[in-house]
Parts: sequence; C-alpha cells; structure tokens
Amino acid sequence: MIKHRSIFKIDTRPEIVDLPSIKNRRKIDVRYPLIKPYAYAHIYWDEDNNELVYHVEEPHLKTSEKEILRLLLLALEEMINISYSVANKFNLILNYLEKNVQAILVELGTKVSKETYLKLMYYIFRNSIGLNRIEPLLHDYYIEDIECNGLDSPLYIVHRKYENLKTNIIYKDIQELTDFVEKLAQKTGRYVSYAKPLLDGTLPDGSRVNATYTQDVTTRGPTFTIRKFTKEPWTPVHLILSKTASADIFAYIWIAIEHKRNFIVIGETASGKTTFLNSILSFIPPEARVCSIEDTRELNLAHDNWMPSVTRTGYGIPNLMGKEYGEITLFDLLKESFRQNPDYVIVGEIRGKEAYVLFQGMASGHASFGTFHAGSVETLMRRLETPPINLSPSLIESLDIVCVMSHLKDSDKNIRRLKQLVEIQSKTQSSEKVQKNIPYEWDPVSDKILQKTELSLFSEISKDSGISIEELKNELSLRTKLLSQMAMMKMKDFKEINEIIKEYYIDKEKVLSRLNLI
Ligand SMILES: Nc1ncnc2c1ncn2[C@@H]1O[C@H](COP(=O)(O)OP(=O)(O)OP(=O)(O)O)[C@@H](O)[C@H]1O
Ligand SMILES: [Mg+2]
Repeated sequence: MIKHRSIFKIDTRPEIVDLPSIKNRRKIDVRYPLIKPYAYAHIYWDEDNNELVYHVEEPHLKTSEKEILRLLLLALEEMINISYSVANKFNLILNYLEKNVQAILVELGTKVSKETYLKLMYYIFRNSIGLNRIEPLLHDYYIEDIECNGLDSPLYIVHRKYENLKTNIIYKDIQELTDFVEKLAQKTGRYVSYAKPLLDGTLPDGSRVNATYTQDVTTRGPTFTIRKFTKEPWTPVHLILSKTASADIFAYIWIAIEHKRNFIVIGETASGKTTFLNSILSFIPPEARVCSIEDTRELNLAHDNWMPSVTRTGYGIPNLMGKEYGEITLFDLLKESFRQNPDYVIVGEIRGKEAYVLFQGMASGHASFGTFHAGSVETLMRRLETPPINLSPSLIESLDIVCVMSHLKDSDKNIRRLKQLVEIQSKTQSSEKVQKNIPYEWDPVSDKILQKTELSLFSEISKDSGISIEELKNELSLRTKLLSQMAMMKMKDFKEINEIIKEYYIDKEKVLSRLNLI
C-alpha cells in the first residue's frame, strides 16, 4: 500500500491587490494572481484590436501532459462522485482527490515530475471541484460580472477598476458549453433541461447565476451570466465614498429605519437596488428580529437575530393554482415569516402577489423593505395599483419612502446614483391619489444630492413618538457627522461599521467622543 502525500495546496481566498487607476487605457498593463501560483490575470491594451483585454494565464501543458490529464479525469469520473454542495469541506475534498490521482498514476504506471504533477492537480481541481475555465475568474476580487453570450463568442467581464473587458476564454465546442451549463445548474441545486431551459440560481459562494440551456432560446447556443457575490456587502460608507448617496441621506434613512418606516428601493435592472438595500440594513437596531426572503441569496446582514430564507422551485406539472410540486414561493415564505412576528421584513425583489402580503404587513406595523423593478415612482404606483398586484390606495399609503436608483452610462464609466428620495404621504380628502414629497434629489450638474423641500418624515415621527422635531433634526446632524467621519476615515470593513452603528444605539456619546465628534 502506497501512502499518499498531499502536495497540492491552493489558497482560495481571493487576494486583494492594489490596482492602479489609470486614465489612459492604452497604458494599462497589470498582472496579478488569481489562484497562486497557477492562474494569473493579465490586463493589457491589445494593439491589434485596439481594446483593453483580460487574459487568464494558466500553466501550459505539453501534449503528453494533456494526454495524462485526459486519462486522469476519465478515471476520476469513473471512481468518485464529488458532491458539489460540500464546498466548505474544501480541503478534505482536495485531499481525497489527490489520493485518487496518485493511485491512478501508479496504476497507469506513469511517472511524472513534481512540476507536472502540480500542474495536473491544478487542472483536476479546476475541472472537478471548480468551475472549469471560469474558475480563475471567480477568484478575482475585482470581477463583478461574467458574461457568456454563446458559442464562439469571447466571455466578457465587468471589472471594478477597468470596467468591461473581453477575455481570452471562448467556448468553441457546443458539448463543452452545454456540459458547463449543466454543471452550473448542478452547483446551484437547480435543474435545467430542454423542457426547462432557463436557470436562475445561486452558487455555493452566493454568486448569482442566470443561464439558458438550449439553442432555440438564444441563437448562439447556451449562454450564462454570473454576478459575483461580494461576500462583504457594500456599506453606507462605501456608497458615500462612491458618491452613490450622501451622508445626510443615510442619516435620514437611519432615523427612518429606527422609527420603523417602510422602504422600497426602485430602479432599472442592475441599477444597484439590492446593493443599496443591503447597505441600509446595517441601520436596523441590533437586537431586532429580522426576516429576509429572496429568490436567490444576495442579502447579507450582521444581525444576530436574522432569519434568511430562500424560495424553492418545484417540478412536475403545475396544479390548478399554477403551483408545482415542492415549490415554495415568496408568497408562502412571506406569510410564514409574518407569523413569526418579526420587527423587520425584507423581500429581496417584489414582483407579484407577495406584494399584497407585504403591504398588509407594513400596514400592521412590521417595518418592511424591498426592491422593485421600476424606473420611476409613477411606474411603481401604476404597477402596484393595477393587476396583477392590484393594491388599494389606502394600502399603498403604508409605504413611507421610495429610493430611486439610477445607472448612468457616462462615456466609459459606470455611475450609480440615488436619483431621488421620495416620501409617500397620506392621500388628502380631496384626492384619490397618493401624494408624494421629494425632499432629496440628485443634481446632475454638480453631481450632488440636494435637499429640495422640507422633510415630512420628521413631523410624522414626531406625531407618532412625541420626540420633538428639533431633537430629530439634531439626530440627523449628529448621524450625518458620524457617517461623514467614517467616510473620511475610509472605514470600509463591514463588521467594524456595523459595530459602530450598534454602539451608537447603545451609547451614542461614547462613539461620538471616540471619533472626536463631541
Ligand atoms: N453604488 C454602486 N457603485 C458601483 N457599483 C455598484 C453600485 N451598486 C451596485 N453596483 C454593482 O452593480 C451591479 C448590480 O447591482 P445590484 O445587484 O445591486 O443591482 P439591482 O438593481 O439589484 O439588479 P437587479 O435588477 O438584477 O436586481 C453589481 O455588480 C454591483 O456590485
Ligand atoms: Mg436586485
């Protein structure tokens, strides 16, 4: 019996390298590790095609090594069945894999050098535990989105620093691409088939996946997009620093959340709704009971008393109610979570009949937040009032605040801004329509959010709680100062920021004096 040795080690935590901001894209030439020391990213200006490109560099295999790899993968497939859901037992799986590889090599009578062995192990890791050719991309802290538009078309990525980049990864073999989409489905625990060709799921690391399986849905064969899950969610401080919103906006939202006002964040696709929503969840009082409900996992909270839940797709033929066997919808989860008497309820994305339950919850005093796909408050109102959602104006009134996000594509920059902050007011006797007040609005000329009208929030909170408007204004200015100071200090750590907010709830003088603000 030959004792196996584990030689192959990789560090899967993405390294955050400090990348230079370079105005002139033609001058960019950076190389950094993705999976050390095997895979690297090389971003440079491609003179021939006049564009900035992202090349994944991996170890080169000689023809003979490729043949051994092929044999090994074939043999491994026969021998073992790796359950992809046990991602947290990473080292165990790697060890197990190595043991088998060494046994197969002995059986094949193949002797390889240590260098070859490590290269082979790298490819075996990335093709079995990992996501094959895109595995290195998943290790790049700077990548936000990965997009494959089908066969023979290079994958594109959205890079935090250098925006849209073409990669050197191209699927040329339909079988490879189809197998890959199947693997994506398997990893998300969902199911794709010719009969059910659309995939929408979450990878074990929280990244969101959309894919199409067949050729007739999209002409160039299977496609997929992966939106990477940034494990540390964006905080209010990040968003102040990126100018998405200002310290006083967050101070206002903080007070509103403390006083259990209801929020909806709206905007077009990828305008930053979920990111914004997640950031403001930090303001929920630390001891509150929070339930969140999503289709795919995106939200991340620091609260101890947080109960996240995710919907489940069913299978088989839908019953008379249009429901499949085993299916658990947002509607089901929402009804269930209200039974648990939460202080705050969050619905990742409001789309259909669950809106009714959510608004009922709002009306009965459970602070509720969510995102909704709509470009303007008018569209939101129309969609809420008309079928299939069909809410009555008196129910819609329970909504207090709408944040409107926008994604501006300025020449080559991706800019995301809070365009408006809208207060929903009670309808007056004379009007059938819901009234609104827009205290804050983004001014495109100065690129600043300006206060346009008086806040009606404070008079309402004052009426409900007895706290004077003066006192609330004072809180607004204190919290604005605190958040500005945190931004000045470039405090970006999710935990640290949440700790400070928590501390503020308990003993605000202590925090303010620690940060030299009083
Ligand atoms: N303020 C911001 N500044 C820069 N990038 C951002 C900002 N907000 C979000 N992003 C990035 O934009 C992408 C889309 O963000 P997000 O998922 O929050 O949008 P969304 O409006 O919820 O999208 P969807 O309509 O798909 O639900 C993500 O890759 C995210 O990292
Ligand atoms: Mg979203």
